[in-house]
Amino acid sequence: MTGHLEIQDVDIRLARLRARFITHQPYRNLQEQFDRLLRRRRAVLSLGTYTEAKGIALVGASGSGKTTAVNRLIGKFAGPAAPQERNAIAEIISLQVPSPATLKYVGSSMLHALGYPLERDKPAAFIWDQVRHLLKERRTLFVHLDEAQDLSSPT
Ligand SMILES: Nc1ncnc2c1ncn2[C@@H]1O[C@H](COP(=O)(O)OP(=O)(O)OP(=O)(O)O)[C@@H](O)[C@H]1O
Ligand SMILES: [Mg+2]
Repeated sequence: MTGHLEIQDVDIRLARLRARFITHQPYRNLQEQFDRLLRRRRAVLSLGTYTEAKGIALVGASGSGKTTAVNRLIGKFAGPAAPQERNAIAEIISLQVPSPATLKYVGSSMLHALGYPLERDKPAAFIWDQVRHLLKERRTLFVHLDEAQDLSSPT
């Protein structure tokens, strides 16, 4: 009986350890770059002017912590997973690039991340028109594409 309880205790300790996030230098660098871009973007938008939008490419070996780092970074912004209400603000949306990463599938996954049902039966041009409209409506500043290497695969 005592042994059983000890095993449970080990599981709880392990689960606690797995849930811990260790702040490392690459994460601090990412945070700094992200904060800078966010400040600039907000400043430009507050003036109603237009400048080229920039992004961040996070590159690293498998298991090096890319997904964990970005999720941690954008966690505080996470709006509703599915902001169904019109005009719900989603400054950051996050999606995993689908496979195969065709224009249509990526657009459709983006619509889903914006709170709309997957519309894979619609033409790609229609889907992307909707994506553009919704990104504006939701005032989205960043789109996080996880597994973005799949975008380079031939479609
Ligand atoms: N900063 C961190 N502190 C603690 N654990 C971490 C940290 N970063 C990553 N991990 C753990 O390492 C494992 C791998 O991380 P993750 O899935 O984020 O890697 P990845 O770079 O996205 O890998 P892939 O390229 O295969 O998608 C996960 O179990 C995650 O919980
Ligand atoms: Mg990953």
